[in-house]
Amino acid sequence: MPVASSSSLLKILSGEKMAVPPIWLMRQAGRYLPEYRAIREKVTDFLELCFTPELATEVTLQPVRRFGFDAAILFSDILVVPQALGQAVRFTAGEGPQLTPIMDAAGIVGMRQRWEDGRDTTVFAPVIETVRRVRAALAPEVALLGFCGAPWTVATYMVAGQGTTDQAPARLLAYREPELFAALIDMLVEVSSGYLVEQLRAGADAVQIFDTWAGTLGGEQFDRWCIEPTARMVAAVRREVPDAKIIGFPRGAGTSLLRYLGRVPVDAIGLDWMIDRDFARAQIQSRRPVQGNLDPLALLAGGAALDRAVDDVFDAFAAGPFIFNLGHGILPETPIAHVEQMLARVRRHG
Ligand code: CP3
Repeated sequence: MPVASSSSLLKILSGEKMAVPPIWLMRQAGRYLPEYRAIREKVTDFLELCFTPELATEVTLQPVRRFGFDAAILFSDILVVPQALGQAVRFTAGEGPQLTPIMDAAGIVGMRQRWEDGRDTTVFAPVIETVRRVRAALAPEVALLGFCGAPWTVATYMVAGQGTTDQAPARLLAYREPELFAALIDMLVEVSSGYLVEQLRAGADAVQIFDTWAGTLGGEQFDRWCIEPTARMVAAVRREVPDAKIIGFPRGAGTSLLRYLGRVPVDAIGLDWMIDRDFARAQIQSRRPVQGNLDPLALLAGGAALDRAVDDVFDAFAAGPFIFNLGHGILPETPIAHVEQMLARVRRHG
């Protein structure tokens, strides 16, 4: 078994407070780093990077080495799950992911059947090997985060075959054929929770469930396709790994976060940059540790605006259990000097 991490991040997930919060950034490994771009050039396909343990390990460690972040996040992608289910996934430069859309019974039921037939194949083996290698290379005080996409967010890409702004294709399928859509969601709950269990057993100290498109679901649809499947995932993971530490990130959930919190027993809530901070402090952080929520555009802007934005995040959340992060992934154009400026400002507090 891997040696347990003694990281500050895990202390926060257990409800402790710290004067200087632990910090990591969503998408901290990526194109804003020249050392990432150098490795990226060695492979033609982005997924090859995710499935080559030697390269994925190196890329995971790069931002920790450069900035001394308190956590590393496994280098992979949420779309390795559809890839593992047999749906072809391609990443085209400048266009984002492209998948062959599946939106009818033949596609979804057929996929389920093929998954059940081949259940024991270890499709995630190279990613799990990366987890093992990264945990072995990291200092004990640095946490390793695993992750996956939430069923809803992964389903939006599987159904549309690409990123869209409002997730209309998946929302429409969910209204027109709720049972069929539920079969897709159920399959994702099962596969994704098994995948998280594998990551935790290989040495991930905690995992984050990214629900990037949660905010496109209203009212009842939010409960049915975001809250309910995520709650089932958390339960399934904890059946296998009872003390699993889990961060939920339902981006764009707004005040629905309160219902999410009430029904999804995650250890911490990731806050996007759009949330009302008074609401988040009073209603969310009073109940659960929070992580976030600097606007990635403030980091891109730099200067006095960045300092002010960092201070605002501190004023809102530093008095309670808190992990400093962005409110969504770092943008590829972000200057490294701005990340350094942000780190200095964060570490000056406390
Ligand atoms: O550093 C880390 O955070 C770990 C690695 C990571 C990646 N993707 C690498 C990546 C993580 C945690 C993700 C999650 C992910 N992937 C999400 C959820 C979080 C979010 O940002 O909303 C989503 C929706 C995806 C799907 C995805 N992957 C898209 C839409 C794109 C294209 C857009 C883009 O930024 O290029 C990707 C590609 C991707 N995933 C890249 C990286 C570093 C860029 C590809 C490249 O380097 O060529």
